[in-house]
Amino acid sequence: MKEKLKQLLAEVDAYEVTSAEALEAFKRKFTNKKGIINGLFEEFRALPKELKRELGQPLNKLKLRATERLKEFQQAVQGVERKAGQPHDLYLPGDPYVAGARHPLSIVLNRIVSIFERIGYRVYEGPEIEDDWHNFTALNFPPNHPARDMQDTFFVSREPDFVLRTHTSPVQIRAMEQEKPPLRVLAPGRVYRNEAISARTHCFFHQVEGLVVDEGISFADMKQGLLYFAKEMFGDKVEIRLRPSYFPFTEISAEMDVSCRICDGAGCNVCKYTGWVEIMGCGMVDPNLFINCGIDPEIYSGYAFGMGVERIAQVLYRVPDLRLYSQNDVRFLKQFEKL
Ligand code: DAH
Repeated sequence: MKEKLKQLLAEVDAYEVTSAEALEAFKRKFTNKKGIINGLFEEFRALPKELKRELGQPLNKLKLRATERLKEFQQAVQGVERKAGQPHDLYLPGDPYVAGARHPLSIVLNRIVSIFERIGYRVYEGPEIEDDWHNFTALNFPPNHPARDMQDTFFVSREPDFVLRTHTSPVQIRAMEQEKPPLRVLAPGRVYRNEAISARTHCFFHQVEGLVVDEGISFADMKQGLLYFAKEMFGDKVEIRLRPSYFPFTEISAEMDVSCRICDGAGCNVCKYTGWVEIMGCGMVDPNLFINCGIDPEIYSGYAFGMGVERIAQVLYRVPDLRLYSQNDVRFLKQFEKL
């Protein structure tokens, strides 16, 4: 046993640990309950007195040394360089606490939501993986509409078709399937399109959908509601204009522009020197949607709209490149905390 102790002490002295795994291996071999050293203490207990006198000291020395080295290794592995016995310096400055900032899209989205909540809209959410019925068919897309093409839509599966929703309009259908009018629905969320990523297009972006259904809702109600929104969002001086357009789920359909607040109409690259910026599509809900959702179009009418959150943020903050929103560069993100 004497020889063995000597040899083990030499081994402990020579041991090198540079990784957490090596540290574990050292513990397993020497210092754990089931390690060599505890085993030796068991053996030691059964020895006759003379041998105990002779071996007690070297055995204790081995144990002490192994414990010392264990501490050393633990500190090395944790990268703790503080020398033993040296207390913390309480006068050193602390690590700076970096306060987070809200993402510009969250700031804009929260504002949009609060503007509509003030006039009685309720927020609905739908799934980002949508079935064909909600994303296309119930919204009156004909079977061969180009938006169903692989070019624009990410298909999760085919037959049955599941897609990454290409817009927030399917939430209109979900709301009308679940609840009966009167309805004032707002549906914010992320949408996906099979587009190359560039400064102006991205494969995902954000929309806010709106839907109002009641008896006697007219195009004039829509115009008034959207003017209210534009003024709350961009300030009292803003003007709106509605241009005829086409969407399968509205009849009649329009696109809404707001006067460019960046150049005040003088012309800039955001409004492409027209003085107007398109921010949403809108229109009167097509009666086919009501039929698809079990609502009587003879009694009810409604309007709907869908806006791009990135687009509105661009008008407010002049962000020149869509990619900035998802690159998580703190230098970009922290600029918006006080706005
Ligand atoms: N879903 C359309 C899009 O993604 C936007 C839209 C247009 C939504 C007209 C509507 C609407 O609710 O009425 O481009």
